[in-house]
Amino acid sequence: MPNLIPQPDDKFTFGLWTVGWQARDPFGDATRGPLDPVTAVHKLAELGAHGVTFHDDDLIPFGADEATRAKKIAAFRSALDATGLAVPMATTNLFSHPVFKDGAFTANDRSVRRFALHKVIRNIDLAAELGARTYVFWGGREGSESDAATDVHAALDRYKEALDILCGYVRDQGYGLRFALEPKPNEPRGDIFLPTIGHALAFIESLEQPDMVGLNPEVGHEQMAGLNVVHGVAQALWAGKLFHIDLNGQHGPKYDQDLVFGHGDLKSAFFLVDLLEHAGYDGPRHFDYKPLRTEDASGVWASAAANMRTYLLLRERAKAFRADPEVREAAAAAGLGELAVPTLASDETYADLSDGDFDLDGVAARGLGYERLDQLAVEHILGAR
Ligand code: GCO
Ligand code: MN
Ligand code: MN
Repeated sequence: MPNLIPQPDDKFTFGLWTVGWQARDPFGDATRGPLDPVTAVHKLAELGAHGVTFHDDDLIPFGADEATRAKKIAAFRSALDATGLAVPMATTNLFSHPVFKDGAFTANDRSVRRFALHKVIRNIDLAAELGARTYVFWGGREGSESDAATDVHAALDRYKEALDILCGYVRDQGYGLRFALEPKPNEPRGDIFLPTIGHALAFIESLEQPDMVGLNPEVGHEQMAGLNVVHGVAQALWAGKLFHIDLNGQHGPKYDQDLVFGHGDLKSAFFLVDLLEHAGYDGPRHFDYKPLRTEDASGVWASAAANMRTYLLLRERAKAFRADPEVREAAAAAGLGELAVPTLASDETYADLSDGDFDLDGVAARGLGYERLDQLAVEHILGAR
């Protein structure tokens, strides 16, 4: 049996807001009490996590005075010191307070945009102090319900302006932080700006310091848009932009379910783990999920452990899939490796192209054998091989 006990080396991390979610939804009140960040740090360390992440307001209540702020940070720091848990990423809550109802960086009201930038700068200082390497921007309120109320062109100008200002701040301070944009198609806004990995990749190229900015894709967010998250993450890797990742589960286009990783589209989760493990991604495996509203505290910790165990099981399954001689033979028979060969040889030009010796009918008629490969993958996922 492979080692299914999570180790810090596995780089599993959790947001304080995940295990700490009190399960309040638009239709019902909280089903669980608040969770002290200090308790969360101790429990996550016990379960084998490597790190913890936070929004400013997860740690320090919005509007807290200086003394409260200092006390909260000191308690959190001593829990980190006691457990050895790291803080690889931090982020800003620019969505809960009513002041952000029309967005933060892209709010029509300029005073809201200025307030938002200041809120981010303050938490960037704390993130740097705690040793974070990545700062995430999830623009949940950056969007609209009515196109009558939104000038998308101007909104993108302001989004770019905000990120340019913040990149400048991080550079001026000499912080070792990179930014990661987290796309999402909708919820809480009817339509959110930068809705998918592709939109965000294109936007990054417009920034003053594009090298400082990459992506934090989330499994469920791409799937909410009906997209293939494995393809999206692969394209982010191809562009050198996979700075961080939010792992969770989702059943296709519906509200953001934030299920445990693997508890949505399991086959896609298998191929995602295979990609992350074999494409050289060495950042955190960050779980951004919500323990079901039905659970009490013991269900919360069971779900935290389930994210890590499912990842480790899928990692082991992906290894077995790649090592299986029948899979190798099926892949070779299907001609998979040929895609890595450039279409023209290095000494050729388009002038060398002709259809003279091309076996048009033979190639058109040839079966590719992908069904066999796909079934082999399913059998590995099911533990049948
Ligand atoms: C969501 C998002 C958030 C962000 C978090 C970190 O759909 O609510 O996924 O959980 O990941 O705000 O920026
Ligand atoms: Mn989500
Ligand atoms: Mn997320």
